[in-house]
Amino acid sequence: MFSFYFVGHNYEYELRNELRVFDLNIEYEIKHESKLKSNTGIGLLSILENNDDEYIGYAKLYYHNELLFESKFSSKEIVLEKENEKKLKKTLVVKSMHQVMKKYYNIKPDYGILTGVRPVKILFVAKESGKSDEEINYILENTYEVSLDKIKLLWEVLKIEEKHINKNSNIKNYNLYIGIPFCPSKCSYCSFTSYVKCQDFQIDKYLDTLLYEIEKTIEFSLKKNLNLNSIYIGGGTPSVLNEKQINRIFDTIKKYYDLSRINEITFEAGRPDTITKEKLICLKSNYVSRISINPQTMKYDTLKAIGREHSVDDVREKYNLAKSIGFNSINMDIILGLPGEDEKDTEYTINEIIKLHPANITVHSLSYKKGSALKQNNLQQFSKEYRLLKSMHDVVDEKCANFGYKPYYLYRQKNIKGNLENIGYTINDKESIYNIVIIEEIETILACGAGVSSKIFIDSNRHEPVYNFKGLKEYSFRIDEILEKKKDLLRI
Ligand SMILES: C[S@@+](CC[C@H](N)C(=O)[O-])C[C@H]1O[C@@H](n2cnc3c(N)ncnc32)[C@H](O)[C@@H]1O
Repeated sequence: MFSFYFVGHNYEYELRNELRVFDLNIEYEIKHESKLKSNTGIGLLSILENNDDEYIGYAKLYYHNELLFESKFSSKEIVLEKENEKKLKKTLVVKSMHQVMKKYYNIKPDYGILTGVRPVKILFVAKESGKSDEEINYILENTYEVSLDKIKLLWEVLKIEEKHINKNSNIKNYNLYIGIPFCPSKCSYCSFTSYVKCQDFQIDKYLDTLLYEIEKTIEFSLKKNLNLNSIYIGGGTPSVLNEKQINRIFDTIKKYYDLSRINEITFEAGRPDTITKEKLICLKSNYVSRISINPQTMKYDTLKAIGREHSVDDVREKYNLAKSIGFNSINMDIILGLPGEDEKDTEYTINEIIKLHPANITVHSLSYKKGSALKQNNLQQFSKEYRLLKSMHDVVDEKCANFGYKPYYLYRQKNIKGNLENIGYTINDKESIYNIVIIEEIETILACGAGVSSKIFIDSNRHEPVYNFKGLKEYSFRIDEILEKKKDLLRI
C-alpha cells in the first residue's frame, strides 16, 4: 500500500495514470497533509509551491518514515509543446513523483512521464505551434523523459502519417466504421463487444438495424458534403458473416457510393477458421482492398491456451488462399506477452509471419482489460514483465526493419503490459489510411453498430464522441436516439 500526501495540489487523476507506468494493480490512499503518519510503509510526499515567479514541484519517498529518494523541479526548467499554466503545474508534480518512483522500482520507462494514448500527436501539435524539430526533441527528451529510441520511432511514424493529412481545406473527409460484434468463440484476452456462437437469424436481425443506421449515417454525411475517405469493417470477427450477409452490407453502401472509387476498404477476416474461398471472392467483388488475417501468435500451444480454435497451419493456408484470390494488402495482428511466451516465442512468431510477407503487421502488447479472462496476477512481476515486453518489442522491431517494414502508426493503452505501445508496421506505401486517421484524430469517424463509437469533428480542434449501445436489443430499440445524437453533433 502506497500513501500519498498531497500539498498545494490535487492531481489524483494524473497520479493514477503515472502509477500505471510502474504498477498496474497498486493500492494507494491520498491524504491532503504534509505530516506523514508513522510507520506507514511507503509514503510519498508531493508538494507544489508557488514562489513569486516560479512553481516548484517536490517529491520525497519514505519507507517507514526514512527518506529514500527525493527530487525537485522548477517551472523555469520546463519547456512544453504548448505552454499553459495548468499543464505546467501538472507536469512539475508528475515529473517529481516520476523521479522517485523510477528509483524505487528500479526501471526507466521508455515513454518517461507520458501516459497518453497518442504520443505522435505531441509532435503534430508542437509542429503546428511553430516549434522546430530540435525544440520538439528537447521537450520529448527533457520534459517528458522519452528515450532516444522512442523519439526516433515517433519521428519515423510521423513521417509516414504526414502523407495522409488532408491539405485541401475545401474537402472535409469522413471515414465509415462498421462493427460486427460476433465471434466464433471468445479469446481469453479480449474485452471487445462480441457475442459468440450466434445463429444466422440473430445476425440477420442485427443487420436489419445496422443497415438502417448505415443508410441514415451516409445520408447525414451527404447532407454535410462530407467525402468518404475509407471504410473499416471490424469486430468482433466480421468474417463470421456469410456471403449473403456480406453482400447486404455492401449493397447498402453501393446505393450511395461507387465502391471501386473508395481509397481503402478494410474487412477484418480476423480468425482463419471463419475464412472460406467463397467469402474471399465475395469480398473481392465488393472492392475490399485490405483484409486482416490474425495469427496473434504462431505458437500452437498458446493459441489453444487463449481459446482460439484454429491452428498455425490454418493461418498459412488462409493467407495463401487470400493471396491467390488477389488480396495484396493483408494485415496480420500479433500480441506480445501472451501467457507463457518469452522472447524466443516472439522471434519464432515474427519469423514465421515475415516468411509470408504480409503488407502490414500490427504488434500489440497484451493489455489487461476489464471483462477479459486474463488478469495480471502477480504484482511483483511488473518490472520483470516490463523488461520482457521491451525485449520482445526489440526483437520484432529489428526483424521488421531488416525486412523493409516501417512503423506507420502507434498508440498506447491503459493497462498495457510493460507500459509500451501497439505499433503498426507496413511495407512501402501500404499503410492503412483508416488506422492513421483514427489514431491521430485527423478526420471524422462515423461508426455504425453495437458498442462502436463515432468521433465527430466540430471544428479543427474539437471533436465529440457518440457511443452506441453495446447490448444487441438496446442497440436495436434505441437506434433512433443514436442517430439523433449524430445529427445533433453534425449540426443537421
Ligand atoms: C477487435 S480485435 C479483433 C480480432 C479478431 N476477431 C481476431 O480474432 O483476430 C483487434 C485486435 O486487437 C488485439 N487485441 C484484442 N484484445 C487485446 C488485448 N487484451 N491486448 C492486446 N491486444 C489485444 C488483437 O491482436 C486483435 O486482433
